Amino acid sequence: MFVVVGVTGGIAAYKTVHLVRRLIGEGHEVHVVPTEDALRFVGQPTWEAISRNPVTTSVHEDVATVRHVSLGQRADLVIVAPATANTLAKMAAGLADDLLGTTLLATTAPVVVAPAMHTEMWRHSATQENMRVLRSRGVHVVGPADGPLAGGDSGPGRMSEPDEIADAALAVVAAAAGPRRVQDLAGLRVVVSAGGTREPLDPVRFLGNRSSGRQGVALAAAAADRGAEVTLVAAHIDGEVLGGVGDGVKVVSVGTALEMQDAVTEAASAADVVVMAAAVADYRPAEVAKAKLTKEAQGDRLTLELVENPDIVAALAAGRLSGQTVVAFAAETSSGDELLERAKRKRERKDVDLLVVNEVGWARGFESADNEVVVIDRSGEVAAEASGSKREVAEAVWDAVVATRR
Ligand code: CTP
Repeated sequence: MFVVVGVTGGIAAYKTVHLVRRLIGEGHEVHVVPTEDALRFVGQPTWEAISRNPVTTSVHEDVATVRHVSLGQRADLVIVAPATANTLAKMAAGLADDLLGTTLLATTAPVVVAPAMHTEMWRHSATQENMRVLRSRGVHVVGPADGPLAGGDSGPGRMSEPDEIADAALAVVAAAAGPRRVQDLAGLRVVVSAGGTREPLDPVRFLGNRSSGRQGVALAAAAADRGAEVTLVAAHIDGEVLGGVGDGVKVVSVGTALEMQDAVTEAASAADVVVMAAAVADYRPAEVAKAKLTKEAQGDRLTLELVENPDIVAALAAGRLSGQTVVAFAAETSSGDELLERAKRKRERKDVDLLVVNEVGWARGFESADNEVVVIDRSGEVAAEASGSKREVAEAVWDAVVATRR
């Protein structure tokens, strides 16, 4: 989902950092639009680093992309947190003298505001009248909560907690989208692996990879929402990303490829679908040193001997239970026909039912929360193509799983 988070000038802006991280962790693409005043509380570099998108307050930057309206047009959800009394007044009046103002006027997406101000300002009839106007236009209001305020005061006016704002905002979008997604995975037991294995060299070092686990977490969350009983086998996934998996998913944490093999094989013995989204090390050090490798002992050259790890997904596919669907992932740097040919060979070699090919280095960059994939089925044909947020890609993969099981 494409989410715009407006941040206005209140001390609670620091809490909005957590809100943005949570949304990113759940696979959403987040664009932060602070007001000038907001940047006095939390600076532009923080917002850019956390959202992984450029941040500007001005309507005069990036004019060629018509940024002053494009953010609002593209948004699936706009959250303003904290929303100061001043910003709420501007919203009620329809003022558009900065990027947040133009974005709010240009959007037709649900708008959720989390007011934060001193109790007197919140209770003032001007603010209350503005809230009435905003509510009558369909703006959703979360909070404010009652509690300690800046400067030692206490009372209603405190911004709601970031998780409460996120939950409320996501519920608003879900309600706007209509009834819950079909429960087409109900009754199915699903295993998803995610993250990247680490192969130890000695007690303090390992060989690893850069997989964040986001796509796997999105797959697990989507499957659970579609009614499946889900086990996520997680290798070195950041707690924040893992938090996006939601309640109801069983998480088994592993470290190495061999540990992943044990955990996945065990979970797979009672599963209807296994999706290997994890980046598993193809090789591991032949020996793990008992003590730390030292330069004193090694000298100016160190040779590592690596041995092959078992191909977990190929073994699962070879021994699959009747009716079980096995799905592999592949990140490929080639493109076009060459990519498709490589992908078809890989699907055949691993004998999986579906191969989801991650088009790294294609149109979409590594830094983006988005992903772009093609799904190859047993006939060697492209069964599905999907691009968008990792959640959208996850839904498309499950659509392909449902279709192939039919
Ligand atoms: N995989 C696995 N066990 C391994 C390595 C990979 O189960 N030891 C799974 C991954 O989880 C993913 C798919 O296999 O689903 C990725 O395969 P990839 O590493 O791209 O395939 P390779 O056979 O190693 O081919 P390549 O030569 O392209 O690396």
